[in-house]
Amino acid sequence: MHKIAVIPGDGTGPEVVAEGMKVMEAAAKKFGFKYEAKDFDFSGQRYLKTGKLVDDSDIEELKKYSAIYLGAVGDPRVKPGIIEAGVLLKLRFALDQYINLRPVKLYNAAFCPLKAKQPQDIDFVVVRENSEGLYKGMGEFKAKGTKDEVAIQISYNTRKGVERCIRYAFEYCRKRNKTKKLLLCGKTNVLTYAWDLWQRVFNEVAKEYPDVATDYAHVDATTMWFVKNPEWFDVIVTDNMFGDIITDLGAMIQGGLGIAAGGNINPRGVSMFEPIGGSAPKYTGKNVINPLAAICAVGMMLENLGEIEAGKAIEAAVIKVANNKLKSLAAGKMGYSTTEVGDLVVKNL
Ligand code: IPM
Ligand code: MN
Repeated sequence: MHKIAVIPGDGTGPEVVAEGMKVMEAAAKKFGFKYEAKDFDFSGQRYLKTGKLVDDSDIEELKKYSAIYLGAVGDPRVKPGIIEAGVLLKLRFALDQYINLRPVKLYNAAFCPLKAKQPQDIDFVVVRENSEGLYKGMGEFKAKGTKDEVAIQISYNTRKGVERCIRYAFEYCRKRNKTKKLLLCGKTNVLTYAWDLWQRVFNEVAKEYPDVATDYAHVDATTMWFVKNPEWFDVIVTDNMFGDIITDLGAMIQGGLGIAAGGNINPRGVSMFEPIGGSAPKYTGKNVINPLAAICAVGMMLENLGEIEAGKAIEAAVIKVANNKLKSLAAGKMGYSTTEVGDLVVKNL
């Protein structure tokens, strides 16, 4: 029995999560697995009403679940940073979800903004470190509010944190078994402390994986190649900040935020799966947002829970819908409503 903690969240989060759960239900019937789901109301909405974010007792409760399914959190009425730190980052850090896994896969060439790129050209995975770096929130102001103000923001990288991420990426690359090429994406030419450590650990761990070919690229060059030669990539490992940035670009070349999903993974704990787009306030309640990213997140979650066949079938159904039905992946332009797209995926499952 899989116990799923569902966090619909803010904005369009609840709408896309409803479609994801619809597909989950259909997959459970078809593939014969059992699950129970419970909703948790962590959100910007709740914060505005009660002042509550995610606290330690919430974390203890969530630790009893097999996985977490998250819609989106963020409310434009709340000052930037509060919900991010108090809900999303709190969950990632407190549950030690130290990997952010983001597949970049083009399902339909018509939705790719790059000229002449086919699905086989855009099919790689970014392994983003998800617990350290600039996201650690370390730093300080000096002489705040004066002309001499200094703002310091520290990138915090531990040997253990870097190593577990790099090791995960090597294992993942080996298992994925595509071209078995792992690229370290960093900035060794400027960030000479952090990326010296990353490079040394990468080279050391690489010795244990002679079957995996390794490469290095600076993050700026990586963004260039995402656009020019995305077919070069298989698995990319990078730190939290660079991973955040390059995966938004990755989402665009795979067709947009409407289709991009990710997993916050703790390989020995509770992982959390989400569409990587935000709460899209302007589309809220209109039944126009694309639920495919949220549905893909369910597919990833099921694979992670060992329901490999069901996960793959969901992806296959999404590919069919993206190829044979939708006019666009963008909100309001799909040619179908949010709920109709969910129904189409169920029909194709
Ligand atoms: C993401 C988001 C988050 C991040 C924000 C909302 C804190 O952009 O999941 O990529 O920066 O990690
Ligand atoms: Mn991001």
